[in-house]
Amino acid sequence: MQVYYGRACAKAILCGEHAVVYGRPAIGVPVTQVGAEAQAREGSGGVTIVAEDLDQAWTLEELAPDHPVGHIVRATLRALDEDAAPNLFLSVRSTIPIARGLGSGTALSTAIVRALADFYGARLSAAQVSALVFEAEKLYHGTPSGVDNTIIAYEEPVYFVKGQTPQRLKVARPFRLVVADTGVPSETKIAVGEVRAAWQREPARMEKIFDEIAAIVTQARRLIEYGQIEALGALLDANQEQLRALGVSSPELERLIAAAKQAGAAGAKLSGAGRGGTMIALVDEAA
Ligand code: MEV
Repeated sequence: MQVYYGRACAKAILCGEHAVVYGRPAIGVPVTQVGAEAQAREGSGGVTIVAEDLDQAWTLEELAPDHPVGHIVRATLRALDEDAAPNLFLSVRSTIPIARGLGSGTALSTAIVRALADFYGARLSAAQVSALVFEAEKLYHGTPSGVDNTIIAYEEPVYFVKGQTPQRLKVARPFRLVVADTGVPSETKIAVGEVRAAWQREPARMEKIFDEIAAIVTQARRLIEYGQIEALGALLDANQEQLRALGVSSPELERLIAAAKQAGAAGAKLSGAGRGGTMIALVDEAA
């Protein structure tokens, strides 16, 4: 029996997380060493979904409308005009660590959209995939900026501002990032909610931090586009300083950042929502 595939990479935020929720820019990069995969084939008696890693199976009817997997399957079938009486067997799996700021849920949704499009012979643009996944993101994250689904759907370095067409980032000279996992799961929704509560309490202080982060992102973009990678490390450090001020760092992240810097990284910061999750460090090509 013919099997149809959809795959999606993970992501890291190079700079600008959290401030991007408040209209400031962010730069994100795909992480292709890990990923999610969905396989679709002809089924019978409706839609069956198997999550191989979790050893779980559901029928689509069993999944509540606000279940992220149920939501993305239904929304994609609707968008493809195939929601009348679908007969499908869909299996999903992923190598992306869950709740570590690497976009595991986003990648899973993206892989599902792509597998369904492949199954029905439809061609969806990156923008169409991203828009479908964004709706599911709201169930995972509450008030997402859209940066995660954009990076993963486009699978390219992007300069992103909420509500605007994403810009592909021209990388004049390649650079190497180390991604390290604190081992501490962190839910984006909670970190984003805490930042929002702080912004409601102290809007002026938080807006100032967001502006500082925006200035860092603008400079980082220029350095990347001109290939001046030597100066990028200091900007990652400066971004981390602002993330500390936002209250989203953690002792585990700080330990990894210190270790990376001691080992010679040019700069290091948390990536994603923080409070756990992953750290990224800019390292020398020869390192
Ligand atoms: C998460 O990868 C990035 C955040 O800025 C949330 C968002 O932009 O939706 C923390």
